[in-house]
Amino acid sequence: MAKITYIEHNGTPHEIDVKPGMTVMEGARDNGVPGIDADCGGACACSTCHVYVAAEWIDRLPAKDPMEEDMLDFAYQPDPARSRLTCQLKVTQELDGLVVHLPERQI
Ligand code: FES
Repeated sequence: MAKITYIEHNGTPHEIDVKPGMTVMEGARDNGVPGIDADCGGACACSTCHVYVAAEWIDRLPAKDPMEEDMLDFAYQPDPARSRLTCQLKVTQELDGLVVHLPERQI
């Protein structure tokens, strides 16, 4: 399991043990973390699974593919450096300790 901390916009943290092979989005959705809507179910077609990755993790994640880059343009207040779509982040043991911050809202 990889421990992932999802921090709501109001500062409320949710520490979740997520099974490798799932996505960071599925870890939130399946454990009732509020603030990740995932309207398209993980198809990289909605941007409502947007988060800001904690600074120390930015370079430790796999690079965005062009589809994720494009879809992030539709997210609420994306940050080119820190924004990711959690449905595109596969959980591995290397992600143990990952911290992500939820945006004020999803669009
Ligand atoms: S769930 Fe729709 S883009 Fe991630």
